[in-house]
Amino acid sequence: FGTARINEKKHLEIGGCDTVELAAQYGSPLVVYDVALIKEMAQGFKKTFEQLEMSHNVVYASKAFTCKAIYQLLDKEGLHFDVVSDGELHTALAAGIDSSKIEFHGNNKTDFELEMAVSNNIGTIIVDNFHEIELLTSLLKKKQKTQRILLRVTPGVDAHTHDYILTGQEDSKFGFDVKSGQAAKALQLVMNAPEFDMAGIHCHIGSQIFDTAGFDMAAERMMAILLDWREQFDYTAAVLNLGGGFGVRYTSEDTPLKPQEYVARIASKVKEICKTAVYPLPEVWIEPGRSIVGEAGTSLYTVGSRKEVADVRTFVAVDGGMGDNIRPALYQAKYTAYLASDMTAPDTEVVTIVGKYCESGDKLIEDIALPDTAAGDILAMTTTGAYGYSMASNYNRTQKPAVVFVEDGKSQLVVKRETLDDLLRFDLDY
Ligand code: LLP
Repeated sequence: FGTARINEKKHLEIGGCDTVELAAQYGSPLVVYDVALIKEMAQGFKKTFEQLEMSHNVVYASKAFTCKAIYQLLDKEGLHFDVVSDGELHTALAAGIDSSKIEFHGNNKTDFELEMAVSNNIGTIIVDNFHEIELLTSLLKKKQKTQRILLRVTPGVDAHTHDYILTGQEDSKFGFDVKSGQAAKALQLVMNAPEFDMAGIHCHIGSQIFDTAGFDMAAERMMAILLDWREQFDYTAAVLNLGGGFGVRYTSEDTPLKPQEYVARIASKVKEICKTAVYPLPEVWIEPGRSIVGEAGTSLYTVGSRKEVADVRTFVAVDGGMGDNIRPALYQAKYTAYLASDMTAPDTEVVTIVGKYCESGDKLIEDIALPDTAAGDILAMTTTGAYGYSMASNYNRTQKPAVVFVEDGKSQLVVKRETLDDLLRFDLDY
């Protein structure tokens, strides 16, 4: 992916940096991000809309990978930001992001979070439920402020199932249900409250989606809701936010379209429906997370012990595991890895790569063909940039890895490795 290539030492190189040298310099496990690829993805989304001559907003779903540096990098690329907690908001503000470029999501935003969002003049709050409408109304009244909002609705598309069971997504903890009339009721409430600038609607149909049918259907249904609301309530939306979910490649078995192609389809669909229905073309927002940072991230591990279970399997253990990447254990997610220190060596055996955590489920990759590996070798696991570091834990009192950005032969540490003393920061003596 991106700038990854094999250098003259036969090592894996990313962003012009030798990954074996990166592991030596910064230690392992280490998460390496290909900055050029992140920029390419961000610009790819923007260009897609520009080519269609559509007003748009590419909002990075920062839960995929959150730290000050990623906010700062994507801010320079002209993206906006989706935050889902006080912590993500705090990080974005600390990174210097203009609060008008931030949108706040969540199905149970606390009083504190809403207060924090409103006091910081956050751009948009994606309102999820009636409780939130109540909390926000009294907060805004108290502060004598107006807040731009979108209403999150469930359009009844469940993209996690192959046959798109149309009612699936209605059984969701997020958003206002459309079929039962909840969404229309919410619209009337916020339309009649002067505290709200009711800018439009939002949906998110799922994550790591490859098929285009779910996105097409979501765009159609969201437009149908807007046409219905124009008819019934004389309401016209300025913004249509269709969420994220564009799939990426983890292994050769994954064959998604390019993320921009999904967006081109959705955007064209919206444009076409608006034209037919003579509806003013809304600003179309998308919220990609995984597709911006997923393929750009690579985790470097050092190989340690090895165990052969005769006639069954060989375990190769690395110095990380479920603490820095819970996805294989949690979702049975599949990944690929390479021997970074000899990219041209032929595969000689099939092994299971495991971590160092005290749990049998701590497997990173089952049954992968690799060349001979020995203790001290560097393994590179690819496409770990989304929901890897951001879901990391300190299980077994391990320290979260360091993160470096690489570009044009230069590397920059953007998140320090945790230290042993960091682990004691909150402990008090008894
Ligand atoms: N917008 C909303 C409202 C979301 O809930 C999400 C992801 C996104 C955007 C970004 O979706 P993406 O483009 O990254 O697919 N931890 C899981 C993924 C959870 C996604 C949650 N919501 C994983 O590791 O696969």
